[in-house]
Order: sequence, then structure tokens, then C-alpha cells
Amino acid sequence: MKIAFTQPAMPKLGTLVVAVAENRALTPAAKALDDTLKGALRRAMEVSRFKGSIDQSLDILAPEGIEATRVLLVGIGKVGEFDALKAEAIGGNVVANLNAAGVVDAAVQVDGLDDAKIDEAETAARIALGATLRSYRFDKYRTKEKKEKKPSLRNFTVMTTDAAGAKTYYAPLAGIAEGVALTRDVVSEPANIINPKSFAKEAKKLERIGIKVEILDEKEMAKLGMGALLGVAQGSANEPRLVVMEWNGAAKSAKPVAFIGKGVTFDTGGISIKPAQGMEDMKWDMGGAGVVLGLMKALAKRKAKVNAVGVMGMVENMPSATAQRPGDIVTSMSGQTIEVLNTDAEGRLVLADAVWYTQDRFKPQLMIDLATLTGAIIISLGSEHAGLFSNNDTLAERLMKSGTAVGESLWRMPLGDAYDKQIDSDAADMKNIGGREGGSITAAQFIQRFVNKVPWAHLDIAGVTWSKKDTATVPKGGTAFGVRLLDHFVSTHYEK
Ligand code: BES
Ligand code: MN
Ligand code: ZN
Repeated sequence: MKIAFTQPAMPKLGTLVVAVAENRALTPAAKALDDTLKGALRRAMEVSRFKGSIDQSLDILAPEGIEATRVLLVGIGKVGEFDALKAEAIGGNVVANLNAAGVVDAAVQVDGLDDAKIDEAETAARIALGATLRSYRFDKYRTKEKKEKKPSLRNFTVMTTDAAGAKTYYAPLAGIAEGVALTRDVVSEPANIINPKSFAKEAKKLERIGIKVEILDEKEMAKLGMGALLGVAQGSANEPRLVVMEWNGAAKSAKPVAFIGKGVTFDTGGISIKPAQGMEDMKWDMGGAGVVLGLMKALAKRKAKVNAVGVMGMVENMPSATAQRPGDIVTSMSGQTIEVLNTDAEGRLVLADAVWYTQDRFKPQLMIDLATLTGAIIISLGSEHAGLFSNNDTLAERLMKSGTAVGESLWRMPLGDAYDKQIDSDAADMKNIGGREGGSITAAQFIQRFVNKVPWAHLDIAGVTWSKKDTATVPKGGTAFGVRLLDHFVSTHYEK
């Protein structure tokens, strides 16, 4: 689908989309169209339930008097409450509607928004962003799908008197959308295609856009003493990789912000094997690494004025003759020893070394790790919020606010000594599981033992990485939850 911004004009074909505010208040563009159509829009509204509320829409087919073959009215609710997220949702919902109807060309005009919370250029750009995000589809393996079933929309034009302003506003958003698409791609790929090596290859491709990419193999990690990560990897025929990316968009002297991702390309549970039912979901157990990859792409694409580091711990967790056993004791890069009581609590083992390595090598001003870490966070928060854990209130507050701004909500969870004690071990410095109770918290406490007091936050994204239903801007499947949030977080607080 191609996005364009143009000056308002009557489209010569396809669908014309215009906005109606609460209580059937026609925007200027809708009013002009209604006049041209001799009141057809008003009449159509009157014989329907369409009130102009947000999320409502009304189709008018084959109207007489214009070249467009269809008019779509979209509700925008109360103009005074109209904001960026609503504009994105409209873009997304319109695209879904147009694709379902088999529309190939569409032009949208939203004007008369003087009282809205965003100006017209931003409105146009946000509609385009929502449209782009919703158009994402992972269909490369669907070789037999009929053309009639595939999305029809080719050209999506947003018309505004400030087309130049809209283009300028949209440029960085397009970069973010590309990052989101990359995350969704790698998360959607099955584990026979995405493994530590092939993921690293994907990362390497980003050298083209100015990101520095280093790949550490098993030998190099062994030399660094990464016994925790390597213990997880040892049961798999797919060798582990540590992917290290750097985007240097600020002065050399500026301390980097660092993002660390859990990259378990498949999690069988290892010897503590998972039940067969639903195990296929564990192809997206590399979701944290996927977000870091997409975020780095987004930052580079929009040339963010920040120094950012991305570290992805890539392993496959398999049961085999070489797999680690429950009760094994491993030594992490930090020197701390870990009794592995459950080989299915592997994400924290991977992060232990990835996080320690990150602070040791890069001396970052802050670290944020992302991981599909625990089933317990899904029990706590469902898929409406990701779990946020942090040793720093300012950092936590900033992340919460960024989440709200982009529609990726976080909920802060507690940390504390009483939880930390639950992972003390009689045989080693710690064990890799607490009890069943507070499972997401003891997992976070485990990671905290490797942050070395650096300002840090941990996002447990197990409940939000994959979606079973479509929402306005996120089609079902891999969501890329976290890319937009962290991009917003960086741009709001860490770029000059
Ligand atoms: N990758 C899983 C967590 C997970 C579960 C993510 C469901 C997405 C959906 C993680 O490695 C895991 O197995 N965690 C265990 C920890 C337990 C053994 C302490 C869990 O949550 O059951
Ligand atoms: Mn596991
Ligand atoms: Zn896992």
C-alpha cells in the first residue's frame, strides 16, 4: 500500500473518506460533499445509527454526482477530544474497512479541527501511520490464498491543505513503522526459519542504514564466561549468538541508553519440558530481541540524536543428550553462580549474562530489558498491560507515560528484599526459580542481581507480544509492543 499526501481535490476514482463529528456534525469537507451530493450524506445518516461517534462509520455506495464510486463517513467523536491516538485508530479502522470492501484507491480528508488536540498536519500524518500499521500482514507462506481474499488497497491518499507539513511530520513516523514491521516479521517467522544464526543475519542487514552490528559466537561467549546463557543453549543443535548493535546518533561523549532482549528462538522448556498443548507459541519467545531489533531500526531510520545500544541474547532451549539438567550449577559472567532448578526458567539465565555484559562493556546511563519472561505476568495483567519493574522511579515514570502516549500500556509491579530472598539457594548464590507465587516478581529480582546498580527497567511482555484479535492499528499476530513505546521514550527524554 502506497501512502501519499496531497492538497484536497475531488478524487477521480475509488473511495472518498470524510469525517463527521459527534451529533452528525459535518466537517467542512463533508459539508461541501453533502452539498455536491444534494444532501445524500445527511439522508444516509438519518436512516442509520451513525452519529459521528468515534469508531462508527457509514458507507454510501455509488453516489450520483461525483466520480468517486463510494463515500465512507467516519466518526471522529467530539472535536475537542480528538487526539493522536484517535487519528491513528481512524487510519487503521478505515484501512480494514476498505480492504474488506475490496477498495483499491482511497482518499481521506479530515479538516475543520481547530479545537482538536493536534493540528491538521499531525492529524494527516497520524492517520497515515495508523493505516500503515494496520496494513501489516505476514503472508509469505500463504501460497494458495485467492486474490479476492487478499487486501485490495493499493493507494491511500491523505488530503490536507498542509500536505507539506503532513509529509514532514510523517517522515520519522514512517521510520518507526518500518521498525514495527521488522519486529512483527521476525516474531512471526517459525523457529525452523528464525534461529540464533538467522536472526543475527537479519540484524547484520541493518549495517546498511548505519548501525554497527557485532555478532559473538559460542566460543567468544565462553571466553567471556557467559555460563548462564550457554547453559541454556547447550541442548540445541542451533548455536547461540549474542547480537550487539550500536546506533551512534549523538556525541561520542554521550553515555548510551541500552536495550537488552530475550531471544529464545524456541522454548521447549528443555528437560523441564513444556506440555505439547500450545507449545507452538514458543516460536515468539524471542519477542524481546525482536523489539530491540525493530527499535534499533526505527532509531536509525529517523536518525535519532541519541547513542543507543541493543544487545540480544539468542538461544534455542531444547531437551537433548547435551541439554542442561535440573540441579546443574552454572557460573555467570558476573561470577555469581546459579542453581538451575527448572530448565524452563531460561529467559532470566540468558538475560543474566546479556545484562551484565551490557553494563560492563558500555557503561550505559540506563538499561531496559524486554522479555517474554513469565506466564505469571499473563495471569496478573492479561494482555492489556505489560509488566514494568524498575529500580528507578524517574525511569519507571517516563516509561509509563510513553506507554500511555502510544497506546502500549505498562503497569508497574513491585520489587523488594522479601521477594529477592526467595531466590537464595542452599547450593549456589541463587536458584533460577522462586515459588509459584509472585512468579513474575521473583523473575525480575533474578535479573536485578545482574544490573550492578545501573538505572534499570524490565518489561515482561509475555502477555502483549502476540495478539489473537485485531485492534485498530495492530492486526492479530506479532504486535511489536514496545517498539513505539521505547522510540517515544528515547525521543522525549534522551535526544537534544
Ligand atoms: N517463555 C516462557 C514464558 C511464557 C509463557 C511466555 C507463555 C509467553 C507465553 C518462559 O521461559 C517460561 O517458561 N517461564 C516459566 C517460568 C517457571 C518455570 C518458573 C513459566 O512462566 O511458567
Ligand atoms: Mn521457558
Ligand atoms: Zn521462555
